[in-house]
Amino acid sequence: MLRARIIATGSYVPDRVVTNRDLEKTIDTTDEWITERTGIRERRIAAASQASSDLAFEAAQRALKQAHLKPKDIDLVIVATCTPDMAFPSTACFLQDRLGIKHSGAFDINAACSGFVYGLHLASSLIRTEAHKRILLVGAEVLSRVTDWEDRTPCVLFGDGAGAVIIEGTKEKRGIISTHIQADGGLSELIMLPGGGTRTPCSKDMLLKRLQYIKMKGNETFKVAVRTLEELAARTIHDNGLDPSQLSLLIPHQANLRIIQATAKRLNLPEEKVFVNIEKYGNTSAASIPIALDEAVHAGRVKDGDHILLEAFGGGLTWASALLRW
Ligand code: ACO
Repeated sequence: MLRARIIATGSYVPDRVVTNRDLEKTIDTTDEWITERTGIRERRIAAASQASSDLAFEAAQRALKQAHLKPKDIDLVIVATCTPDMAFPSTACFLQDRLGIKHSGAFDINAACSGFVYGLHLASSLIRTEAHKRILLVGAEVLSRVTDWEDRTPCVLFGDGAGAVIIEGTKEKRGIISTHIQADGGLSELIMLPGGGTRTPCSKDMLLKRLQYIKMKGNETFKVAVRTLEELAARTIHDNGLDPSQLSLLIPHQANLRIIQATAKRLNLPEEKVFVNIEKYGNTSAASIPIALDEAVHAGRVKDGDHILLEAFGGGLTWASALLRW
């Protein structure tokens, strides 16, 4: 049986660090509130010259280098993003061009913060059916451009970054064991970026209402996230005939430390089995899991044969999980 397997990872975050103390100077907030409520201490912000494809390019190059592969070895480029360079061409097309890949397909997917795990679901199917041989999947976001720096609740949460993986087929008993994706479009109003699309096109009125920025009902989103992620993580483990104690590492989407802790508690996982880097980067949406996975690999926290659970939650609402055997 052919399985899809992540053979290399790479990540990139912009150089500029904005700390909670920096935010205290511009909005009515405190380092203490942000740290206690979210676990975030600082985030990275892209330079004015950097768009999502530029961050994706850096992460992709690092993954290619780790795999000892050339761009020509890739036959499909997928970018998960809710902050594309522009509506079209896709961010994946810009990335493909920067990498010098000539003979591949390239497209974006958007499931907000769940985008990378949705991408794994898709890429895994495309590899298993042998539609593609080797896929570059990148989660890349420049959320700082769609963050209202005058709205104190969302603006403390988000950061910029990119993470990349290369996926190919294997006949070994390892790789992407299972993926689950889910959505509830009935809860779309909990987190959205309403302006600039075909529903509310860009206009002076739209800008005055600040609809070009993320609008979020944080507390309601929080409650749905805790409920759905606890349930999804437990179901993913159970459906694969495993017990939570057999998990080596949980790599959750980094949206809020309290959401991460709630899932870990439900699975009875000790702290050392949960990967957390939210304090450094905040919520980087579709980039958060591939950045965390890359850091976990480089920190030696991922070993051959380990069972690793990835889980994400985001706008849509969407949520998703992937169980890996490394
Ligand atoms: N600084 C200080 N005080 C603040 C701030 C701030 N930055 N933001 C809000 N407050 C205040 C509120 O005004 C409120 O004050 P009040 O009690 O006097 O009315 C109080 O803090 C509590 O506000 P809540 O919104 O209830 O705070 P909560 O504990 O829910 O934390 C947060 C807010 C951090 C946004 C949390 O709800 C959360 O993380 N939600 C989930 C977000 C998420 O998971 N998003 C994932 C999807 S993102 C995507 O798809 C792109």
